[in-house]
Amino acid sequence: MKYEVLTYGNGALRTKSKTVEVVDEDIKALALDMLETMYAAAGVGLAAEQVGRDEAIFVVDILPAPDGHQYRERFTEDEIKMPLVAINPEIKERSGECIYKEGCLSFPGITANVTRPESVVLEYTDLEGKRQTLQLQGLLAEAIDHENDHLDGVLIVDRMSAVQKVMHKSKLKKLMRMNK
Ligand code: NI
Repeated sequence: MKYEVLTYGNGALRTKSKTVEVVDEDIKALALDMLETMYAAAGVGLAAEQVGRDEAIFVVDILPAPDGHQYRERFTEDEIKMPLVAINPEIKERSGECIYKEGCLSFPGITANVTRPESVVLEYTDLEGKRQTLQLQGLLAEAIDHENDHLDGVLIVDRMSAVQKVMHKSKLKKLMRMNK
């Protein structure tokens, strides 16, 4: 089942996620529905908040770009299987800093420069209910930091510089109005 992706101004995006107690059939179904929703919207990541749910889950799939491999060459962790479904994720370490031109399915038509860690250590529960640890770099680290923010109710607008906010002021206002 495909969800509608909520956009900036919808209060659900500001809620904090709740810990998933058991990885049961309902959680697995939610994860699959989130993947379906993300792929349909041509996104590379989606958090439960963005579809109006409050479980601590996000999904990420960084696929090669249709015109080549502009995504793949940004990281070399070939052992990391995509899509990544992270339940109860926790970022244990962040190091370095990179500025990324970032978009978000909840901010259609907006891309903004956002500072993210260069690498992260992510702990999460997988769909089998097993706790996993991954060290991630580059675009994957950026994506995970972005999705993890969603689970705390934090959005790219909170990470924009004052200049970026001014630049995107009218688009942000428009989104806000659509959600009134
Ligand atoms: Ni997002």
